[in-house]
Amino acid sequence: MKSFIAGLPKAELHLHIEGTFEPELMFKLAERNGITLPYESVEALHKAYDFNQLQDFLDIYYQGMNVLQTEQDFYDLTWAYLEKVNAENVRHVEIFFDPQGHVDRGVAFETALNGIHSALQAGQDKFGITFGIIMCFLRHLDEDDAFKTLESALAHKDKIIGVGLDSSEMGHPPSKFQGVFAKAREEGFHIVAHAGEEGPAEYIYEALDLLKVERIDHGNTSMRDPALLKRLSDEQMPLTVCPLSNTKLCVVDDMKNHPLPNMLAAGLKVTINSDDPAYFGGYLNANYEAISDLINNDKENLAQLAKNSFDAAFISVAEKQRLNADVDSYLAKNS
Ligand code: ADE
Ligand code: ZN
Repeated sequence: MKSFIAGLPKAELHLHIEGTFEPELMFKLAERNGITLPYESVEALHKAYDFNQLQDFLDIYYQGMNVLQTEQDFYDLTWAYLEKVNAENVRHVEIFFDPQGHVDRGVAFETALNGIHSALQAGQDKFGITFGIIMCFLRHLDEDDAFKTLESALAHKDKIIGVGLDSSEMGHPPSKFQGVFAKAREEGFHIVAHAGEEGPAEYIYEALDLLKVERIDHGNTSMRDPALLKRLSDEQMPLTVCPLSNTKLCVVDDMKNHPLPNMLAAGLKVTINSDDPAYFGGYLNANYEAISDLINNDKENLAQLAKNSFDAAFISVAEKQRLNADVDSYLAKNS
């Protein structure tokens, strides 16, 4: 099944570019920027990746980000990710970045955005991987700060396709950001939000009803609410599910208990994604491999997940049809 997954054309829709910062590259860029990391070695840093909950991870994730200083750093980070996923037959990526995580420590919005964007453009030219950039608001900060961030983005609508919501979920419901998301919608951005990773099903309702999201990032706690499951299924609202993230952050206690089969049985439009692969132990194919057993190692089921990723992407109908046809012909040749 590993080789079938490896060759399957697929899209990645839930990926924090700062979460692809591998320890080796972090040490290299720290040296280049004259920064001393609070870890002695790559191995010592790896050992720190032991999380009981989302906040444990976020503390280390924000610390790692401090190393990113120049446009070249953001370019190198993004390029390293593209080389990995090119080898995994990923055909389209929609990438999150956290502008406030950079601006608040003195790195300009444009430094981050331009570095990420020029690498993605180079990746499209060289590998044919199409892309979109989604900027996320940090939900532990206030709505005024998110408004300022949105203001910065308005000059870069040619580079940013959407707006999302991430960081510490508990205590920071979507309702806190209703105003800024209304403005983002008016400005024509696509809308997504992390909801129901740790937070209650109520946060998923708020993301749908108040933010008017087009995809739910994670959405695990919808499993506790049959009426919500029915609604997500009726609306065919895509969920960007991240299996290795879920076990690493103890959202799910063991992969064998992952809700993916129940999500599919409930008729949800599920996609598979890697979230923060440098921290969670695997890129996109590793995430497909992690859940393959749960769907009976069935090639049609795996192909359906890949097709869902194209259906849920912010691309044209013609692009979706072209990419889904590639999945169908791959399945026909490899069944
Ligand atoms: N930022 C990066 N990864 C995240 C996740 N899984 N949940 C919330 N915020 C994040
Ligand atoms: Zn995420």
